[in-house]
Amino acid sequence: MNIMLFGAPGAGKGTQAKFLIEKYGIPQISTGDILRAAIKEGTPMGMEAKKYMDEGKLVPDSTIIGIIKDRLSQEDCKKGFILDGFPRTLAQAEALEALMQEMGIKLDKVISLNVPDELIVGRVTGRKVCPVCGASFHVEFNPPKVEGKCDYCGADLITRKDDNAETVTKRLAEYHSQTAPLFDFYKSRNLLVDIDGTKEVKAITEEIFSILD
Ligand code: AP5
Ligand code: ZN
Repeated sequence: MNIMLFGAPGAGKGTQAKFLIEKYGIPQISTGDILRAAIKEGTPMGMEAKKYMDEGKLVPDSTIIGIIKDRLSQEDCKKGFILDGFPRTLAQAEALEALMQEMGIKLDKVISLNVPDELIVGRVTGRKVCPVCGASFHVEFNPPKVEGKCDYCGADLITRKDDNAETVTKRLAEYHSQTAPLFDFYKSRNLLVDIDGTKEVKAITEEIFSILD
């Protein structure tokens, strides 16, 4: 099963991806997580991407498309995958389509999590993430079982550098100008399922499961 999670920054893509991994046993491909790992390792690509990410801007398409080509060719993607945070521009969506055609695979569903901008800022500024496995929590809406510790791997949770009100506003602007048009792109291909992302985490997970099962 090849799935894409679509939505604004902070819409809950990463949170839902974790439940899909557990249920379907397919890997999550988060371009944001891959970029943050490259920054941590101090690679030239990571250092270049950091400038854009700290500013709340999108990283150039050529870098992102290169990352996805590498990642989709890996063995664990053969059984399926969950795209999270990719594609984010029309050029990326077209490159993905061409790549998947070349590989002889198709997207099964694009799950769009719909959350209004007013709710996004509170979600993102209260977020705590796991630097090891990438899991997301929220101090109020989705707290970890043990305060400050990841439910999945036990690591100490941290706040992402770009999770401040100023950068979130810029990320939302990038989303509306560059990413939101992809909603129609996938709707026209009959792949899109629009979900109310303001419900509780569990209710959304159940809705996604019922769509995919
Ligand atoms: P990325 O890491 O992808 O960040 P993002 O899209 O901004 O998405 P988030 O990770 O912020 O949100 P999410 O939807 O996963 O929300 P989450 O589940 O954590 O990208 C970071 C940067 O990298 C970009 O700005 C860009 O520079 C670059 N980049 C990455 N990919 C790129 C690409 N393809 N092209 C170009 N540049 C790229 O949830 C958010 C919070 O809400 C959490 O605290 C969570 O606990 C809480 N929450 C989740 N669900 C609910 C719920 N139902 N109710 C209440 N709270 C909830
Ligand atoms: Zn973890």
